[in-house]
Amino acid sequence: MSPQKVFDASLPQSIQRAVEVLRQGGIIAFPTETVYGLGADAMNDKAVCRIFEAKKRPEFDPLIVHVASVQEAETLWSQTPESATLLMKRFWPGPLTLVLPKSSRVSDLVTSGLPTVAVRMPKHEAAFSLIKALGRPIAAPSANLFGYTSPTSASHVAEDLGEAVDLILDGGPCAVGVESTVLKIEKNEGTILRPGGIPAEALEKVIPLKKAPDEKTARPESPGLLDTHYAPWTRMVLLPGAFSDFIPEFDAALKEYQARKSTPLRVGLLSFRQSFENPALETVQVLSAKGDLYEAAANLFQAIRKLDKMNLDLILAEPVPEKGIGLAILDRLRRAAGGKIAGKEPLC
Ligand code: TXA
Ligand code: MG
Repeated sequence: MSPQKVFDASLPQSIQRAVEVLRQGGIIAFPTETVYGLGADAMNDKAVCRIFEAKKRPEFDPLIVHVASVQEAETLWSQTPESATLLMKRFWPGPLTLVLPKSSRVSDLVTSGLPTVAVRMPKHEAAFSLIKALGRPIAAPSANLFGYTSPTSASHVAEDLGEAVDLILDGGPCAVGVESTVLKIEKNEGTILRPGGIPAEALEKVIPLKKAPDEKTARPESPGLLDTHYAPWTRMVLLPGAFSDFIPEFDAALKEYQARKSTPLRVGLLSFRQSFENPALETVQVLSAKGDLYEAAANLFQAIRKLDKMNLDLILAEPVPEKGIGLAILDRLRRAAGGKIAGKEPLC
């Protein structure tokens, strides 16, 4: 990829350049507080098509539209219920995406033919300035190849989409590190379609939440919920609990493997907070030594990408506590492991 494609997101001239590319129907990568987005002018169908092509994203998976004002969001929905207004007041700009019936302004390409559209206002200076300077909403999925681990730095984007993207705005690492919470609103009640940066506990203080529908039956409602997603190329297996409780089983599985294959298995651990000195582990990536779930979220995707580059045979991932933003992390870990859980699945 040519280095001239990457521009410092903090400079006004970089934003201006990105706007020119978007006006000409180009696609650009830009930082948000969650992950990097791959953006196009949401009102330009040809440009929106290029996003799907660049990511190799199936057409059935709709895009989030990014806005810089509540007024702009309201032009994209056919109506804005009171509950949505309350949520926008409380959480925008920020990692909350609201799904509501779409207005005629929004193309079926963006929504994959759904009658609803997902909208959010990002809380990142560069993203915000970009949308404002363009004067139109930006449709943007995460800027990774479809199904692969999401990008939380400009270099992640360059690795995945360097050739396919017209310009990359480099705004450094993403502060939140997991995607926005996707919340569908019906009759002033919310349903979380994807856990994310704003936890359910915070949403519940503003509007009542319905229990999320069973994923298998909800798929038409939330087309992006696939069993395998965010996944490294390396085989990844989720542990049922802390690695320390799993060591005897791990040692036995390794012995059995070596007897069978007569080569050592290269294993890396994605640990929540503790580093281990186990000689059978090639490497340990710790998400947060102090056990802070927000720090763990911010480190998650770069740690998975780092492990994926180490030529390992297996990545073991420890679960994180199932509360707050931990639910979003667990969701990503389960999908990155493609549902494989140690104990239910052979390790190797
Ligand atoms: O934090 C984020 O949300 C990032 C940044 C770039 O804003 N974007 C992101 O986009 O994660 P993407 O495309 O990777 O994920 C969007 C999710 C998908 O699961 C998609 O199926 C769902 O939102 N979605 C989009 N429109 C929808 C709709 N109308 N109804 C239900 N789900 C929708
Ligand atoms: Mg994505």
